Amino acid sequence: MAEMVEIFDTTLRDGEQSPGSSMDDHEKIQMALQLDRLGVDIIEAGFPVASKQEFDSVQKVARAVEHARVAALARALPLDIQTAAAALEVARRPVLHTFIATSDLHLEHKLRMTRAQVLEAADKAVRLAKSLIPRVEFSAEDSTRSDLAYLVEVVKVAIAAGADVINLPDTVGYTTPNEIREMFRHVIANVPGADKVVFSSHNHNDLGLAVANALAAVEGGARQIECTVNGIGERAGNTSLEEVVMAMRTRHDVYSFDCNISSKELVPSSTLLSKITGMAIPYNKPIVGRNAFAHESGIHQHGVIAHARTYEIMTPESVGRNRNELVLGKHSGRAGLAKRSEALGYTLNKEELDLLYEKFIDLADKKKEVYDDDLRMLIVSMRNESFEVYHLVEVCTNSHPAMALVKLRRGDKQFSETATGDGPVHAACQAVEKIIGVNGRLEQFDIRATTPGKDALGEAYVSVSFDGKTYKGNGASTDIIEAAIQAYLNALNKYIALREVQASAPAPLAKSS
Ligand code: KIV
Ligand code: ZN
Repeated sequence: MAEMVEIFDTTLRDGEQSPGSSMDDHEKIQMALQLDRLGVDIIEAGFPVASKQEFDSVQKVARAVEHARVAALARALPLDIQTAAAALEVARRPVLHTFIATSDLHLEHKLRMTRAQVLEAADKAVRLAKSLIPRVEFSAEDSTRSDLAYLVEVVKVAIAAGADVINLPDTVGYTTPNEIREMFRHVIANVPGADKVVFSSHNHNDLGLAVANALAAVEGGARQIECTVNGIGERAGNTSLEEVVMAMRTRHDVYSFDCNISSKELVPSSTLLSKITGMAIPYNKPIVGRNAFAHESGIHQHGVIAHARTYEIMTPESVGRNRNELVLGKHSGRAGLAKRSEALGYTLNKEELDLLYEKFIDLADKKKEVYDDDLRMLIVSMRNESFEVYHLVEVCTNSHPAMALVKLRRGDKQFSETATGDGPVHAACQAVEKIIGVNGRLEQFDIRATTPGKDALGEAYVSVSFDGKTYKGNGASTDIIEAAIQAYLNALNKYIALREVQASAPAPLAKSS
């Protein structure tokens, strides 16, 4: 049997801290459950000392995850480590991940510490972490730009202090495959007890080499890869989970390692993340992009029809792509809808199924063909509604001149307002704000079709800033103006809900119509 490589997913930590990828607690839990289904070995849930909110979300993820280990990040500081350990108390299999930089550049300009001080801090951090949590990972940040002899010293100290996993990150995406392979070989050959710990590789993609570097690190002796779904992460992102896994599966002749990933969950995981964050997946993204298995040229099409392997190195089905299957028709029943939703990774309770069924019939009335992606979008927007403060009852717009009438409901009260604007979406947002009495700044607005066809469902994603903080929202409808307003209201509802929780008192009542 081939040796195993563990998959450490940091979508919820390194991924989530990148612009445009933030998630609320509910979204993080949804994503964590999908990662668990995908079969990752470790889920890094966050950096608990960062804020009370981050602490709570790590705790919620730790409680929700059943199979994977759950990791929390901490700098090599007592408060960070104690806070991370406290957040992990509810985890079935916790991992405390502590780190400190080891390159002279970071020591001099960021930490203002000497090499000796960093050695001492690493020793203390790992000892403290180990006294609180049975499994500890130590990361030597910026390893690939660290002096190799010094890196060996740091790793010796971390192992002697009790670390179970040693991570040597390429923090700034600077290294190359040959360099990282040799770095791992050298460190592993020169530290006593290297065979008692797992070496891990964490790569950033600034030069587009993250996946290649992760694979080279494995050749050099790493047996854990840190990565994210869709490769999201700081700057140009992290090692893309789907790419590194499928490289090991497809080129098993070269990378003869196994991992616990259920590859049919790759596309569902990628799609879920994209729907949650609103970050579109580039069409040509390997494995999960829309065009990853599309053969456009006649020669290729002919070849694939004659024998799929002429131009296909892996099958779309093996990564969970269903060739955009037609799911259900207007006459499909609740049982079929529940079964299809389950196959897409969504377990619905009775109330949710009833609501989804209503929405599905409504969509099937407007749109002849309902695809898996339509169904995913319906579920995402339905789940948004369960957190609504204000519900969109109706929006009517006119383009020339641009004006809108919006009706909202909160509890059993209905509100309505009209407004003008630069265009119908602007006018409708103005009307929403008039009703609620707030003023937001639209920072980002994306709209795209969920599936092919003129009658496609439109997905809208917005980032809106209220009181200096950014809230994301999404919406879906066959009417793109309605989708845009739903997205705007979704972001606004998050702001209102938070404001009301913080004030611990109901918001001033809006004008009733
Ligand atoms: O990129 C990096 O070095 C990190 C560490 C905290 C592991 O994210
Ligand atoms: Zn990182």
